[in-house]
Amino acid sequence: MDSQALIQSDLDHVWHHVMPMHEVAESGPKVIVRGEGSLVWDVEGKEYLDAMGGIYTTPIGHGRADVIEAICEQGRKLEFYPNFQFYTTPPVIELAEKLTALYPADMKRWFFCSGGSEAMDTALKIARQYWKQSGKPGKHKFIALRGGFHGVTFGAASATGITLYREPYEPLVPGFRHVPAPFCYRCPCKETYPGCCLKCVDALEQQIVFEHPDTVAAFIAEPVLNPIGEVPPPVEYYQRVRELCDRYQVLFLFDEVITGFGRTGKWFGCEHYGVKPDLVTFAKGITSGYQPCGAVGVPEWIDQAFWGPDKTGFMHGHTFGGHPMACVAALKNIEILESENLVALGAERADYLFQQLQRLHEHRVMGDIRGKGMLIGMDLVRNKETKEKYPPEIRVGIRIRERAWELGLICRDQRDVLVIAPPLVTTKEQCDRIVDTLDRAIGEVEATTPV
Ligand SMILES: Cc1ncc(COP(=O)(O)O)c(C=O)c1O
Repeated sequence: MDSQALIQSDLDHVWHHVMPMHEVAESGPKVIVRGEGSLVWDVEGKEYLDAMGGIYTTPIGHGRADVIEAICEQGRKLEFYPNFQFYTTPPVIELAEKLTALYPADMKRWFFCSGGSEAMDTALKIARQYWKQSGKPGKHKFIALRGGFHGVTFGAASATGITLYREPYEPLVPGFRHVPAPFCYRCPCKETYPGCCLKCVDALEQQIVFEHPDTVAAFIAEPVLNPIGEVPPPVEYYQRVRELCDRYQVLFLFDEVITGFGRTGKWFGCEHYGVKPDLVTFAKGITSGYQPCGAVGVPEWIDQAFWGPDKTGFMHGHTFGGHPMACVAALKNIEILESENLVALGAERADYLFQQLQRLHEHRVMGDIRGKGMLIGMDLVRNKETKEKYPPEIRVGIRIRERAWELGLICRDQRDVLVIAPPLVTTKEQCDRIVDTLDRAIGEVEATTPV
């Protein structure tokens, strides 16, 4: 098929994710055919710098032949066998052991699935069943953050705190509550950090007490809040949340789907806060996207609650969870991150990128630049003083993202926040290219946008 036929066929038959099809049609489907490192090429042969990292997914970069070879080698031996009931395969065993060694929070056992939403639903079910089998069957509610994102399946969407992802599918799963996020630039409590003494932690405590601790199973959050534009909460926020969870016997579930595997400048997001969660979810960077894979980790004391002839076991499974070719991809991805020292390299490059990005503050629409490591958000405003946003119809973020694409840069607009998450292997020159292209795209859009 030539490129025009491919584009037409896409428009005729492919349902794009989380984007109204009329908008896909307006901007035109962007058909990517090849990748190498931080670069990708479209069907017309035009090169782009993938500053979105394939939707926060590609720490090691695109086109690694050694990962593909490892997947093929496994496929030639055994393409698939499930992780159901009694069955297992060497790659899933090796990956579980590796994750236990890597994650800072003493995770003993791993449940594998095919992505982040499945991982979240799995973790939610583990939490509910854990309490049922630990003498506190009433602990079934979940508290998450307003503005948090945890996926799109019914459980994960119920944990998600964004109206756009919830309202069309209501009623969602009962028992989910949402509290204000620790978002200091636009504080939902209308306070200023650090004078606020973190009223958002008080709000969480009040919610736990209001619900009654005997009904609350777990608190859920991302180490860096992605949907509201890569917001790293103050360090003490998660430290105090950890204390609250201990005090009220609430499980602390960290969603490390984006923040795992070097994205934030450390191996895992939890390391920025010095806290150890009770449950963790992974996806995306676990394989750098070379295969679909998600995982949930639990410590020994949660694992123990599922053992014994009086227990039903965890009645949850996905045919492709622990797929041997996906586990091999994860193992090779981790081996590359380790042997090429990519987490430290990515952190160093991210520092350079962040410094260079500061010059974008000269633009009148640039309100805030924030993030951790190679996960950076840029808050676009109409007025820097008041932080007022442009009305949606001005489409300022969308127009900047579109212009950047024309100039050969892929970034993401979360409407009025621009987001970048380049691979950890992005070179210094490529960091400069990201900044120069954004500078130009923002400048051009700004010039045609009313004050
Ligand atoms: C923090 C977080 N959790 C869960 C998910 C869902 O992952 P998936 O798209 O693999 O289902 C996402 C997806 O972006 C995410 O960002």
